[in-house]
Amino acid sequence: MSDNITGLLSAGTFLTADADRGAVVEFATALDLDQPAERVSSATIHATAHGLYELTVGGRPVTDSVFNPGWTAYEWRLQFQSFDITDLVRGSAGPLPLAVRVGNGWWRGDFGFEGLAANYGEDLGLLAVVVIDFADGHRQVVGTSTDWTASTCEITGNSLYHGQLVDARLRGVPGQPLEVRAGTFDAARLVAQAGPLVRRHEVLAPQAIWTSPSGRTLVDFGQNLVGWVRVRVRGPVGTTVTLRHAEVLEHDELGTRPLREARATDTYVLSGGEDHFEPTFTFHGFRYVEVEGWPGVLDASALEAVVVHSDLTPTMRFECSEPLVNQLVHNSVWGQKGNFLAVPTDCPQRDERLGWTGDIAVYAPTACAQFDTADFLHSWLLDVAEETVHHDPPAVPVVVPDILKYGHYPPDAPFSDVHSQAIWSDAAAWVPQALWQAYGDRDRLAAHYPGLVAHVASIEPLLSPSGLWDAGMQLADWLDPDAPPDQPWAAKADPGVVATASFHRSVAFAAEAAAILGKDDDAARWTALADRLRTAFRAHYVTVGPAAAPGTSGRPDEPGELRITSDCATVYALAICFGLLEDTEVPGAAQRLAEVVRARDHLVTTGFAGTPFVTWALAEHGYAADAYRLLLQTGCPSWLYPVTMGATTIWERWDSMLPDGTINPGGMTSFNHYALGAVCDWLYAGVAGIRPAEAGFARVLVQPTPGPGIDWVRAARTTPVGEVEVAWQVEGEAFRLEVALPDGVRADVVLPDGTRVPQTGGRHDYTCALAQPDTRENHRE
Ligand code: BGC
Repeated sequence: MSDNITGLLSAGTFLTADADRGAVVEFATALDLDQPAERVSSATIHATAHGLYELTVGGRPVTDSVFNPGWTAYEWRLQFQSFDITDLVRGSAGPLPLAVRVGNGWWRGDFGFEGLAANYGEDLGLLAVVVIDFADGHRQVVGTSTDWTASTCEITGNSLYHGQLVDARLRGVPGQPLEVRAGTFDAARLVAQAGPLVRRHEVLAPQAIWTSPSGRTLVDFGQNLVGWVRVRVRGPVGTTVTLRHAEVLEHDELGTRPLREARATDTYVLSGGEDHFEPTFTFHGFRYVEVEGWPGVLDASALEAVVVHSDLTPTMRFECSEPLVNQLVHNSVWGQKGNFLAVPTDCPQRDERLGWTGDIAVYAPTACAQFDTADFLHSWLLDVAEETVHHDPPAVPVVVPDILKYGHYPPDAPFSDVHSQAIWSDAAAWVPQALWQAYGDRDRLAAHYPGLVAHVASIEPLLSPSGLWDAGMQLADWLDPDAPPDQPWAAKADPGVVATASFHRSVAFAAEAAAILGKDDDAARWTALADRLRTAFRAHYVTVGPAAAPGTSGRPDEPGELRITSDCATVYALAICFGLLEDTEVPGAAQRLAEVVRARDHLVTTGFAGTPFVTWALAEHGYAADAYRLLLQTGCPSWLYPVTMGATTIWERWDSMLPDGTINPGGMTSFNHYALGAVCDWLYAGVAGIRPAEAGFARVLVQPTPGPGIDWVRAARTTPVGEVEVAWQVEGEAFRLEVALPDGVRADVVLPDGTRVPQTGGRHDYTCALAQPDTRENHRE
């Protein structure tokens, strides 16, 4: 199908036109139908662009999606979209006006920190083909050609970072004509749209409008969101209205410093009549807007915030007795919405918005629970694989699509050519692993396998003779709260421990994937490599027994005597969760983990690496009460501290906003970064207990984990086999559980007292006694 369309697209000429860098270019034609419009049986338009395009037929949009053709690794994958325009064509009389506006977007805009711009090329361009089938079997195919016209329009400035400039006085008058040229275009890159389109979602009304101490007009939409503000305004011709966006207030004014170079400002020049503005060639991450130049009094009905993200189906409901935790879940869901816009990004507001691989590596299990991300992440993984094999030498870059390679930074700049980073590069394994667990799609696993192998093979030569991955710079346990604010990589956790453990996890999954796919030789190769990594890890980093020296790992007599190099929560969490220890060693590691967690009063002490795993490592090994105390801690740093500070999304830093209400002075401070929200995976699969016993929930495991501070949980996850519902509550010393399974679905239900009940489909109730208080304090308080 897609091959046919790629062939069809060769009927079009790739058009380009020179215009000022800020201008949106409008390509247009009037199409003469071969037969009367009422004889049209179907009509489709296939299109793609260098830049972002918006297509109208007869003045009407052909789609409610925006930001087409999305953002992919354009050098090797440029998506085209296909839209059914039958009704629009049938309803026409006379020549059919087609108009396509093309803006800068990711192709040519200012994009990437350190002033990156026009990463993919200087020219905007368009390729489109209309295919019209008539009732008598005749087919008319019309493609873009140099007969089309091009002109400027009323959008005179457009930048994803900086915002949009619209001069309403130019509406309805012919734009400045531009010369149309046939541009160079490599059709081999064309691929059909693989992930979901980007669409508008919620529309939010202002919650408050007021005047700041300095006399500025501020608007609060009540939710940190990603999208834009739709405006309805009437004022004297030539009046300029600007909207500046930010996520937070500081000193009662708009807090724009974290945006760094991104101006995040939309500017409108009024026509004199009633004007409507909706800036669809930009997006902002914001909760607050500062409005300047508004004619008269700003009324709440004049503005609405439009939420924009890739079209994903929600798949998770979670609610519990602790409202702060419910808000944490809300924040994670909104963090995913805002950062799943064409690619999985780090943040949606400052001069980054890049597909940082480490962020999604740690967040993928949470993301796959909250929304159906199968197609979205599949498409992105194809880009990861392309970027990996085209890197010289092959390596997973830290951002995908990789625009940092266009940076031409000085060789000593921190991001001149950064690649092969533990966790970040491991996205090539961990994201496919999360997808496999969530959706169990073997064909997709096969599609992701080459990228996974390219990653694993790229790291193997980097291992030291000792067998460890302990040389070179690592971002590692990024944003450990104990690291200096300006050195987020300077974590407590030894980078070699983090890198070797993370790589072991990737290689072990490569072995599992190879076995699933019937690649026995590969499975043997990756199993052997995983074994070597594990042996090296244990020999160099794990010390057992009071008299034991590093490198003399043995069996612990006393579980408390086990130590892992750098002795902090992250290293124990990774060693436990990634299978680097012998079964007999796990209790000692869990005990030490609990000790270090208690020693810091259950405040968070982990960064990107440890955060997703620390509650899992505690709760699954006898320390559920400590996991709960860590979860429910509200001091800084903790997951709930931002909630107590009014956060409506997950923050980048544990203390993006300091307790006194000022913004963290670090140059890297966002209020919408999902990575540290990765704890929600434990809420859904650990606390509520909805887990895949087999990939894709072919068999379900319901294994809830109660703990002090939460009395009840109600959760439901839409899995590939249907909706699995869990509700539990604690009544005195009794634990009551209700489970609802889709018909015919096999499950194991494991109660907190250890009872395991096999079950098939239907609704079931269970009761058991809560675990007795013991020395591990795994009891309800
Ligand atoms: C991003 C992070 C990213 C990190 C790695 C930051 O600027 O926002 O989320 O993973 O850089 O260096």
